[in-house]
Amino acid sequence: MAVLNTPAGSAHARILGVGSYRPSRVIPNSDLVEAIESSDEWIRTRSGITERRWANDEETVAMMSVAAARTAIERAGLVPSDIDGVLVATVSHMKQTPAIATQIADELGTDKPAAFDISAACAGFCYGIGLASDMVRGGSARHVLVIGVERLSDITDINDRGSAFIFADGAGAVVVGPSETPGIGPVAWGSSGDQADLITMTDDWLSWADSDIELTPRLTMQGNKVFRWAGFAMAEVAHEALELAGIKPEDLDIFVPHQANMRITDALAKSMKLPEHVKIARDIATMGNTSAASVPLALDRMLDEGQAKSGDLALFIAFGAGLVYAAQVVVVP
Ligand code: UT7
Repeated sequence: MAVLNTPAGSAHARILGVGSYRPSRVIPNSDLVEAIESSDEWIRTRSGITERRWANDEETVAMMSVAAARTAIERAGLVPSDIDGVLVATVSHMKQTPAIATQIADELGTDKPAAFDISAACAGFCYGIGLASDMVRGGSARHVLVIGVERLSDITDINDRGSAFIFADGAGAVVVGPSETPGIGPVAWGSSGDQADLITMTDDWLSWADSDIELTPRLTMQGNKVFRWAGFAMAEVAHEALELAGIKPEDLDIFVPHQANMRITDALAKSMKLPEHVKIARDIATMGNTSAASVPLALDRMLDEGQAKSGDLALFIAFGAGLVYAAQVVVVP
């Protein structure tokens, strides 16, 4: 009987380069508070957010992705034709098909890579890192571009008290490629579909079109329930990622959680008993919650500001609508 060939991948995978794009419109809390009867102080103390970035008309999902990806590819010491996989994590590409990944791959000048979108909300980037690592080690791709990108301002209801001040726009990208040493630990991931209603859209497009509701479907969130779930359940997932990687909290150099709420970040750091020397990403203060883009944006800022350096051990963790979650330990490029 004929025997199938199976691909031989790299022994290990690692992140080779990071890039990000921060859109140009700075929106301070004061611009939002009137519509939701809130205050700058309430938003800062409850979420840690002082301002966020919203995209202008030219800063499309594709444009922001291409900008972040170009930097990541260049920093990886590669050219676009080296990329043979493009994974785009997003919930705010507003066309159901085709995937935005193929357009981004084309605009970058890549050479017919496998390209598809990932719908895993705020966990999408960490899902993508898990997939890309397996692709490189499994031999189905050599250099995989993983992009997290959102234009949540398009689907945010500025009159919704529970979410208007949270969501924001931006893009982050990394290239995952072959490595002689372990650079991406096993992913701890999962879902909790029984809580699908906690973060969802106000409507689906067909029902909305049949209704007389003027406002197009928007994000809606039962914030406090998500807050309580994230603070407890995600600490266990973080521990699982550390255990799978054979790493102790004191071995970490940086902690890059999804930028959902500064209080969730603090609760996780406390429950993991992270020692003082572990630097914690706090990009949310000026960027808000950019869902799939938040982890690579926060990592890139830590590198830019010298809080992280090449070779550091980082813990990523992200969670969101689904509910879905994913975490892994990685070596900083
Ligand atoms: O990215 C995906 C994952 N997402 C998250 O992880 C988000 C998780 N959730 C959160 O970040 C928080 O739940 C929020 C920041 C959204 C809200 O903070 P909270 O501490 O959970 O507030 P709450 O909803 O429990 O509301 C507390 C109080 C209520 O008043 P009473 O009942 O105590 O009198 C609300 O009516 O604050 C009131 N409130 C507001 N006040 C001023 C709710 N929204 C606002 C507002 N401004 N925007």
